[in-house]
Formats: sequence, C-alpha cells, structure tokens
Amino acid sequence: MDVRTARSRTRQGTRRAGHGLPRLRITRGLNAREEGQEMTALKARGVRRTFEAELAPVRALRGVDLDVARGEFVALMGPSGCGKSTLLNIFAGLDQADEGEVFVDELQVHDRDENWLAKFRRHHVGIVFQFFNLLEGVSALDNIALPAILGGMRRKAAETRARDLLDLLGLGDRTEEVPSVLSGGQRQRLAIARALVNEPAVLLADEPTGALDSEGGVEILELFRRLHGDGQTILMVTHSADVASGASRVVRMRDGRIIGDDDDGQGNNDDGRAAGVDVMADAPAQTS
Ligand SMILES: Nc1ncnc2c1ncn2[C@@H]1O[C@H](COP(=O)(O)OP(=O)(O)O)[C@@H](O)[C@H]1O
Ligand SMILES: [Mg+2]
Repeated sequence: MDVRTARSRTRQGTRRAGHGLPRLRITRGLNAREEGQEMTALKARGVRRTFEAELAPVRALRGVDLDVARGEFVALMGPSGCGKSTLLNIFAGLDQADEGEVFVDELQVHDRDENWLAKFRRHHVGIVFQFFNLLEGVSALDNIALPAILGGMRRKAAETRARDLLDLLGLGDRTEEVPSVLSGGQRQRLAIARALVNEPAVLLADEPTGALDSEGGVEILELFRRLHGDGQTILMVTHSADVASGASRVVRMRDGRIIGDDDDGQGNNDDGRAAGVDVMADAPAQTS
C-alpha cells in the first residue's frame, strides 16, 4: 500500500464517519482482510513450554491451541504468571515452544534456528512491550527508520515512511526528539510506529498500556482500534478488563491453558467483552 497516498489523504482531512479520526493507511491488513478473511494470522497447536527453575520446573504453557484470523483484534487476559507473555513471545519468535506447532501468517515458526527467527521477527511481526524498549539517545525518526533499513529499505525511503508513521500517530512534530523527553503515551506511540514500519502481518503487544496512566492507556487503545479498523491483526496481552473491552475478541488464560474464548466463530464479536470477564484477571499491571 502507498503511505504517501495515506499522508496526503490525511492532510486533506479525509475523515472517517463515526469517530472523526483520519483513516490510517499504514497497514497491510485491510487487503488481507478483504481478500483472505479465512486466512489464519496466528495458529498454535498443542503448545507447551516449561522453564527450568531452582525448585521445580515451571510449566508456563500446558497445551495451548489458538487460532486468530486475519483482521482480528484479540485481547489475551489472565492472572499474572498464567503464561500470557510466554505465548506472545513464542508467536513473536522471541522464544520457542518445547512441544507443539506454531504458525504466523501461515509460516511455520516452530523448530527454527535463531537466524531464521531474527529475519522472521523483522518482517512478519511487530512487537510492542510494556516498557517501550526504544533506543535511548536516538531520535524518534531513527528509532523507526533503523528497523526499516535493517529490513532492507533504503535510508531515504525508510525516513519517508518513518515520517509518515510519526505524522499518522500524532508525533509529526517530534521527529528529532529522543525518547527520554517524550511522555509515556508518546513513547508507546513511537514504539507502535516502530512495530508497524515493516508492515507486519500481526501486531503483538504485551501489556502496552501497563506503564501508562489511564489517559495514556485510553489513547493507545484508541490507536489500536484505529489500526484494527484499517485491518491490522492484533494480539494484545492485558490485565485490564477495560482495556480488553476495546478488542473484538477476548481470550482468557489460567495456569498455562486457555480457559475462555468469546470467539463467535466469525471472529467479529464486536461486543468485545466476554460474558463474565474474570475479575481476578483485572489485577494491577505486573512487570513479569
Ligand atoms: N525465562 C523464564 N525462566 C523461568 N521462568 C519463567 C521464564 N519466563 C516465564 N517464567 C515463568 O513462567 C510462568 C508464566 O510466565 P509469563 O508467561 O511471563 O506469565 P504472564 O505474562 O501471564 O504474567 C511464570 O510462572 C513465570 O515465572
Ligand atoms: Mg506477562
């Protein structure tokens, strides 16, 4: 898709009926949704992951099956320690399952070497963390342009795309700032821009609002909803039932297993909030 078109449209003030926000045209998800509704963006089958620990092994994932269709916005909820980050990291290619099969954008991700996984992470997934993980001392523009250049884009094109993303995410006047002078919400928007720079099939976010005040959290959630409206597939880990209610589907975990899923089979449950969201899951954000 053409980001230039997107920017000029935005500048001309193209508005979307309803929420009045400029329509984002920075994802490849929309075409995917129109052309491949049935395509699976994320698929886990019998995924198990055990960590060695001093006293006894920790069985973080005890057999997880999950399908996320292209274009879905899924919130993954559950109490601290239930395995949410472990599952997200396995989809992200940051960790590997001990058993089971994992597919992202129809690509086999299990049983791969680190070299393959590094390329996979660069091109197929965008990853957003609770504490942003930005390059400190490097401008906002370069925080976004560098991964694009690593992804094979020429510097000029990478900088153009970085500027477009910063514009669209409301940071157009912050291109030369370093992360430390930005607010938490701005830093997280910067991290989201970075995650989107190589047009990932899936945006994977681990507690993206967990380090923000409620206003900052609402802002990030609204941004995710815009991206979802543009067709971006999103898997978002959250402790908060309020945050989860912004998603189109809520999946709940406990003790390394999926215990609830409000998927209606169509992947378009726009009510978002699962019946009886587990109040235990709505604990304060943890750093784990
Ligand atoms: N690298 C690791 N080494 C040892 N134990 C880990 C590691 N990562 C996670 N765990 C343990 O696995 C369980 C699941 O962790 P995690 O997936 O981070 O949970 P959540 O994100 O739901 O809070 C926890 O008991 C945690 O302590
Ligand atoms: Mg976690």
